[in-house]
Amino acid sequence: MFDSTRREIHYLRLSVTDLCNLRCRYCMPDGVEKLEREAVLTYEEFLRLAVLFAQCGIDTVRVTGGEPLVRKNVAQLVAGLKAIPGIRKVTMTTNGILLAQQLPALLAAGLDSVNISLDTLRPEVFRQITARDEFAAVQAGLQAALESGIPIKLNCVPQAGVNEGELEDIAALAENRPLQVRFIEMMPIGYGAAMPCISGPELRQRFARRWPELQPLAEADFGDGPAVYYTVPGWQGSIGFIAAVHGKFCASCNRVRLTSQGFLRPCLASEAGCDLRALLRSGADDTQLLAAIRETIWAKPREHHFEDSSMPATRGMYRIGG
Ligand code: GTP
Ligand code: 5AD
Ligand code: SF4
Repeated sequence: MFDSTRREIHYLRLSVTDLCNLRCRYCMPDGVEKLEREAVLTYEEFLRLAVLFAQCGIDTVRVTGGEPLVRKNVAQLVAGLKAIPGIRKVTMTTNGILLAQQLPALLAAGLDSVNISLDTLRPEVFRQITARDEFAAVQAGLQAALESGIPIKLNCVPQAGVNEGELEDIAALAENRPLQVRFIEMMPIGYGAAMPCISGPELRQRFARRWPELQPLAEADFGDGPAVYYTVPGWQGSIGFIAAVHGKFCASCNRVRLTSQGFLRPCLASEAGCDLRALLRSGADDTQLLAAIRETIWAKPREHHFEDSSMPATRGMYRIGG
């Protein structure tokens, strides 16, 4: 369906848990409060809502967290989503730790692609960013995904003074592997608000000095998300930039988000939305739920105001799922 600014909304990001097995400094540092188990929607509740979202024109669902693989049997949810008429694509964004272990079940469930977070190639920097020693598990997850042939995108958030010196090495993973390696500007959301942002355009110039043949790829070569892709002739993969702050892409936004508590957020950067859990658990019928979903999508905010530092930052990314 269309929102009031004539954007076609067909992509739902589903945060299935606020829990995570890492404690990234910009997302969910140690000490954050966890939700009560009953606060989080059951798979039955998610699937009931997903059927209604599909009736509103959602054809792509990205499963996120927290870390989606820490929720028990998430492959079962993936299979349930894939079986819904109208849903063509189900994807996942993960930190990769449990991927090697769960990939067979996810592939059997029909998962279409996977995005893996990878901010560093150095175990000690991994620990500095995530407060955990899980670098080897992430590497194993990435390796298993590569061997399976599932389409993979990597997500790297450049951080001044932390992984700044290894960004070319991370980009170069795309040289001999079929990977889309994306660099995400730190967004002023949750704990990220206190951290400096290395801009996409600045990084692209840096990469162009290293690889003068760097050239843009046709739009929508790799899905219709916010990343803009480049490649170097002869490379198997590509380099993407998600420049939410310096390359605002709100005018072409196609997505909404459902938090693990069943709160429908039409925009990442706004707390506005609709408490579908309250409706669901107070006995609303499908017609009432559909009306609430349609009304909330219709009222999707036009854009973020990240450039205006006087605007309050929205809360923790781990509760929204990116
Ligand atoms: P695909 O393009 O479908 O692969 O997904 P994606 O890149 O949008 O998904 P992923 O979960 O890998 O997110 C990568 C980064 O993009 C995260 O930091 C997200 O927060 C960010 N992102 C995704 N969608 C939006 C959006 O609509 N607005 C903004 N500002 N950031 C987004
Ligand atoms: N700004 C940009 N990206 C972020 N992520 C988490 N928090 C932020 C933030 N404040 C990224 C993670 C993950 C993806 C889903 O979102 O690194 O790759
Ligand atoms: Fe879409 Fe909001 Fe992200 Fe802009 S900030 S691209 S409107 S979700």
